[in-house]
Amino acid sequence: MFKSFIFCAFLVIWTITEVKSESSRKDFIDGFRKDNSRYWLISCTLSGCSFAFSSCMNCYGERGCKSCISLSKPECSVCADDIYNKDDLETIDGNEYLICDSGDPIQSKVCHLYCRGQYAQSGQCVRVNNLPICKCSSDSGSFTTDSTVSTQTTPPAYSTTTLQSTSSPNIPSIYFNGTVKQNISISDWYQRILPLPNGDLVRGSRRNLIEIWDLQKGIIKRNLTSVYSIPNVFGLLSNGDLVAGYGNNKTLLVWDLKITNGEPLKRTIQTNEEIWCLTVLKYDDLAICQSWNSYDDYDIMIRDSQNGLIKNKLVGHLSTVYQIIELSNGNLVSCSDDKTVKVWNISNGAVIKSITHVMSVRSIAFLPNGNLVSGLEDGTINIWNLETNQLIKNLIGHTNSICYNNCLHILANGDLLSASHDKTMQVWNPIDGTVKFKSPLQKDRFLQLAVLPSGNFISSSRYELIVWN
Ligand SMILES: *[C@@H]1O[C@H](CO)[C@@H](O)[C@H](O)[C@H]1NC(C)=O
Ligand SMILES: *[C@@H]1O[C@H](CO)[C@@H](O)[C@H](O)[C@H]1NC(C)=O
Ligand SMILES: *[C@@H]1O[C@H](CO)[C@@H](O)[C@H](O)[C@H]1NC(C)=O
Ligand SMILES: *[C@@H]1O[C@H](CO)[C@@H](O)[C@H](O)[C@H]1NC(C)=O
Ligand SMILES: *[C@@H]1O[C@H](CO)[C@@H](O)[C@H](O)[C@H]1NC(C)=O
Repeated sequence: MFKSFIFCAFLVIWTITEVKSESSRKDFIDGFRKDNSRYWLISCTLSGCSFAFSSCMNCYGERGCKSCISLSKPECSVCADDIYNKDDLETIDGNEYLICDSGDPIQSKVCHLYCRGQYAQSGQCVRVNNLPICKCSSDSGSFTTDSTVSTQTTPPAYSTTTLQSTSSPNIPSIYFNGTVKQNISISDWYQRILPLPNGDLVRGSRRNLIEIWDLQKGIIKRNLTSVYSIPNVFGLLSNGDLVAGYGNNKTLLVWDLKITNGEPLKRTIQTNEEIWCLTVLKYDDLAICQSWNSYDDYDIMIRDSQNGLIKNKLVGHLSTVYQIIELSNGNLVSCSDDKTVKVWNISNGAVIKSITHVMSVRSIAFLPNGNLVSGLEDGTINIWNLETNQLIKNLIGHTNSICYNNCLHILANGDLLSASHDKTMQVWNPIDGTVKFKSPLQKDRFLQLAVLPSGNFISSSRYELIVWN
C-alpha cells in the first residue's frame, strides 16, 4: 500500500520534472519509469534528507556513507539504503548507472554520495548519449565506469581559467638572476619568515617572541612578545594585522602592527590544531593545516579570523599538509605527506580531485596555463595537467627533497624556480624541462622561499637569510 502510494507520488514528481525536460529524453524516461528505478528520489525527498547529505559529502564506502546519512538524520536510513540498492540502477549498453539529473540539487548530492560509497572521490550528474547519469571520478581522477563513459566529452569539473592561482594585483612580478643582493647571518637557526608590504620581515623564534626585521639595515627593529612559545606560522589580514600561529600551543594571536606605542596584541584564538601552515583566504578566513599529531587529525580547518569559529572542515588528508593555495574561484589546493595533491570545493568541503604521487609532496605552484607543479620528497618536480590528470613532465635535477615552505615559484618570464634540501636553487624551463640555472652549493639546505614587495626572493636556511637579485 505504502509502496504504491510512493510509486504514484514518484510518477507525479517525475511527470512534473518531465514537462520541463526535452523530448529527446522521452524514450529513455519511459524505459526507466517502468522498473521504478530511482526509488531513492522519493524516499530521500519524503524524509527531507538534503541537509543530511550536505554534511556527509566526505563519507567513504557504502557502510560509512549509509551510517553518516542515518546519523545525521535517523529518518533518512531508508533513503540511505535506497541510494545503494543495486536494483535501482539503470542498465545502459550493458553498464549499470544511477540515473541523475544535474538540474536537481538532491540528485546531484545523491550521485556524489553514491560515488563516495563506491570509494570514488566524487560524483557528478552528466549526460552520456544524451542520458542523464551519475559519473564517478576515482582517486586518480580517471573515471571508474567503463570506456563508454570515459570517451564521452563531458565538461571537466573546472576549466583552466578557474585554476589560476590567486595573484592579487599588489603581488609584484618576481625576478631571479641568481646573484646575492644581501646576506644576513642568523643565530636562532631556521624559523619561518613572512615579508611585510613595507619591506620589513617577520620571523619566528624558538622562544616566545616574533622578530620584526628592518631588512634594509639587516637588524631586528622590534619584538612581539607573548606567553606562547615558538611562533611558527604567519599570515597577513587585509587590514594589515599579523596572524601568528603558535603550533605547539594550538593558539593564534592577532597583532596590530600599526601600534608601535602600546599593546599590539589584539586577540587570542584557541584552536585544536597543531598548526603547521596557514593561508589567509579571500575575506580574511584562515585555512589552517596540521602537522603530525597523536590523534591523527590532518583535516584542514577554515576559521573566521575575527572570532576563530570553524566555518568549514576539509576532511581527506592522511598526513601532514605542507601548503595550501587558494584558487581564484575560492577553491583550495593542498599538498601533503600522504603523497596527494587535493583540490577542494570550498562551498561544500568535498574533494574535487586528488592526484596521487609516488612520494610525499612538499610544495606546489601553478603555471600560467593552469598546470600544477608539485615538488616531491626525492627532489623531482612533477607537472600535471589537472584537466586530464596526466603527468606531463617529471623534472629531474635536484638530489634531495624540494623544501616544504613555499619552495616552488613561477618567475615573471614564466620560468620555474625551485629550492631544495640539496642546497641548490634551480631555474627551469617548465615547457621543455631544461635547467636554465643552478645556484652554487650553499652552506646549508634551503628551507623556505618568500617573495619581497620589491619582487626579489628571500631564502631562509639554518644560518642565513639571503635576498636574491
Ligand atoms: C653569506 O655569508 C656567510 C658568512 O659570511 C657565508 O658563509 C655564505 O657563503 C654567504 N652566502 C652567500 C649565498 O653568499
Ligand atoms: C628582541 O629580543 C632579543 C632576544 O631577547 C633581544 O636580543 C633584542 O635586543 C630585542 N630587540 C628589540 C629591538 O627589542
Ligand atoms: C605553550 O607550549 C609550550 C610547549 O611547547 C609549553 O611549555 C607552554 O607552557 C605553553 N604555553 C601556554 C601559555 O600554554
Ligand atoms: C561545489 O559545491 C557547490 C555547492 O555544493 C556546487 O554547487 C558546485 O557545483 C561544486 N563544484 C564542483 C566543481 O564540484
Ligand atoms: C642581476 O641583477 C642585478 C640587479 O638587477 C644586476 O645588478 C646584476 O648585474 C645582475 N646579474 C646578472 C649576472 O645578471
